[in-house]
Amino acid sequence: MISDLDQHLAEAATAIATAGDLDAMRTVNSELLGKQSVVTEARKTLGGLDEDERKAVGQRLNEVRAEIEALVAARRSALEGEARAEQLEEERLDLTELDRGRRLGHRHVVTQTWERLEDLFVGMGYTVSEGPEIEDEWHNFGALNFPPDHPARDMYDTLYVDHGEPGSTLLRTHTSPVQIRVMEAGEPPIYSIMPGRVFRSDTADATHMPVFHQIEGLVVDRGITFGDLAGTLEAFTRAYFGGDFTSRLRPSYFPFTEPSAEFDIRRPDGTWLELAGCGMVHPNVLAACDLDPEEWSGFAFGFGLDRLALMRHGIDDLRELFRNDHRFLSQF
Ligand code: PHE
Repeated sequence: MISDLDQHLAEAATAIATAGDLDAMRTVNSELLGKQSVVTEARKTLGGLDEDERKAVGQRLNEVRAEIEALVAARRSALEGEARAEQLEEERLDLTELDRGRRLGHRHVVTQTWERLEDLFVGMGYTVSEGPEIEDEWHNFGALNFPPDHPARDMYDTLYVDHGEPGSTLLRTHTSPVQIRVMEAGEPPIYSIMPGRVFRSDTADATHMPVFHQIEGLVVDRGITFGDLAGTLEAFTRAYFGGDFTSRLRPSYFPFTEPSAEFDIRRPDGTWLELAGCGMVHPNVLAACDLDPEEWSGFAFGFGLDRLALMRHGIDDLRELFRNDHRFLSQF
């Protein structure tokens, strides 16, 4: 009986060791330890043995059962370990795959234009200045020689802000008020550009937006002439667009410049494009900033920055610049 048990233990050990996976292990387990297993059946026969033998066989039976249980437990945990490792390997994510489709963001096409213009003028010795988007009537109009109730104010469909006296606070309609702030802040010589957002109560269409961008230029020094203005804008044209572009100035009107002009560029195909207003700083404007027009003279210009971006990339609808459609923006 005892040798039968020893024989059984040896066979059980082989069966356990050769169980290939957890399913096979479950079967082996019930065969070796379940209701119909050798050890369970053997226990039932103990009652028929005499006392000494029962004791010896019973003890050996307990040992064999415990050993089988231990072997089963060890094999099961080894198989579980293998299964877990296999599962991990299957579910493994190759994170380097994600890298392949990665796209970095980039600056908005308007920002690119803005920074390029800054670079160009900084290269010509200009500083960059900024002013507030919410302005007072004095800086946006009064100091710029717009008389009160003058029809020139209608050129700029102004968005007023409900603050202070009615009509006293507004969203700046152009970057020209920054000219005033720069002249108030320091003595000439001034060579500065002033990029920024401006606002007009326009309805959005392909060429108008209620919010857009300008870049103002202001030079105030001794002996500045209209020739300096023309030469500066021509130098700018060639540097920004290329040597096959040229520029012209056409007479125009702005209250804060005298004489005033429109600045057009001529494209290689011979067509003209209006880009900016400009002129010599009006003596009244210098005087409003406590500068003596007999001592100082200067010129100013104001570009539509969005228009430069449109033309550079052949975009035909201004609204695209403000829609923030990633599919559109990612092209530039
Ligand atoms: N501020 C003018 C505009 O918005 C442009 C301009 C700037 C004209 C500087 C002359 C000098 O239309």
